[in-house]
Amino acid sequence: LETQPSLTHEQLQSLEQELAKIYQNYCSLNLKLDLTRGKPGTEQLELSNALDGILQGNYCLPNGTDLRNYGGLDGLPEMKTLGGQLLGVHDHEILVGGNSSLTLMFQYLAMAFAWGVQGKETAWNREDAPKFLCPVPGYDRHFSICEELGISLIPVPLTGEGPDMDQVESLVKQDASIKGMWCVPRFSNPTGEVYSDQTVDRIAALGKTAGPNFRVMWDNAYAVHAFEKDAPPLSNVMERCRAHGTEDSVIITGSTSKITFAGAGVAFLGTSPNNLDIFKKHLNALTIGPDKVNQWRHVLFLKDLDGIQKHMDKQAQIIRPKFEIVLKHLSSSLDGKKMGNWTQPKGGYFISFNTLPGLAKEVVHLSAEAGVKLTPAGATYPYNKDPDNSNIRIAPTFPSLEDIDQAMQVFTTCVQLVSVRHFLK
Ligand SMILES: Cc1ncc(COP(=O)(O)O)c(C=O)c1O
Repeated sequence: LETQPSLTHEQLQSLEQELAKIYQNYCSLNLKLDLTRGKPGTEQLELSNALDGILQGNYCLPNGTDLRNYGGLDGLPEMKTLGGQLLGVHDHEILVGGNSSLTLMFQYLAMAFAWGVQGKETAWNREDAPKFLCPVPGYDRHFSICEELGISLIPVPLTGEGPDMDQVESLVKQDASIKGMWCVPRFSNPTGEVYSDQTVDRIAALGKTAGPNFRVMWDNAYAVHAFEKDAPPLSNVMERCRAHGTEDSVIITGSTSKITFAGAGVAFLGTSPNNLDIFKKHLNALTIGPDKVNQWRHVLFLKDLDGIQKHMDKQAQIIRPKFEIVLKHLSSSLDGKKMGNWTQPKGGYFISFNTLPGLAKEVVHLSAEAGVKLTPAGATYPYNKDPDNSNIRIAPTFPSLEDIDQAMQVFTTCVQLVSVRHFLK
């Protein structure tokens, strides 16, 4: 369909009728498709099935550690080494947690809020109105943690190579009640962008200009999740922090959730030894120790960074075609029609689509009526408020290729229909 806003009113009307007919046809098919779930597909999970049984009944390590018993608050040394390689920190700068990095983020922030990052007098809840910067569009669960703690969120636009750093630096300099910032530095959720070297360096330097006890939450959830060979690398934030003397200002997290099993992986938190000591005191009140059995299974299964890389190459083979289908539909239906724009990531789990301003909710609504579930419009912004009502997150990893193909036909029809109706107004 050739759709241009420059078409005459009559041409647009007939196009609207044509698209409405196609749309009605989809509605009659009783589809039940879902592009909302940013989780691994079954085929990806199956790549890690060897985790089961890998210990072969050997629960005791040569050094005498009984994996089945309590203890080891900050994780097995071998798992620290593996996590350190993943996050780019030394063994003495990392702690190994349970299955979820999101839990570690919540725990760190809850501690910072209530008990302080350096003792009681540094608790963020002593501020009248503690705030956090959040690059947008972003990850709704980051927003939820802050909302839960009563930390207000200030959106900052992403540029394609990370947050707009001029804005970030100026906000942080002016307002000491800004206590931190969220970052998903590689294959950001949902834009898929990778922070540039310069951006990483400027973020590492923030600790010098921000108010006291400022913390960057560096959520490197997609550290090794490239599905294209030429995906840009990410520079090492801790190295940049060392250069600036700001090691205390960054909290790096990651996990094997999207490497092995999303619900039964291993999570890590990397930061300065000083921060780790304080965090571990709180952790000690919370747990006697993490699941060392699962940690050791991961050490044996993944071995080292090279092992992780080889494993991720297999994941890439599964994920790449799914992204290709989404991009093929977007480009064949929408190229040159000025009805939206979208990202073309080289890794991660998402494609970020922007409708014309004001149309995202209607596109999501029409898609849902035709049996295609999309992440609610607004979910990628704090307080569900996308000021442009234009961003939609597409998550293609979980559905089958056939389902993505069908869902994208419906989605692109809805984008065209809603846009043409908008042109007709
Ligand atoms: C940016 C980001 N961080 C963290 C997570 C969850 O990580 P975990 O499973 O380690 O809690 C996700 C999951 O979608 C994510 O997209």
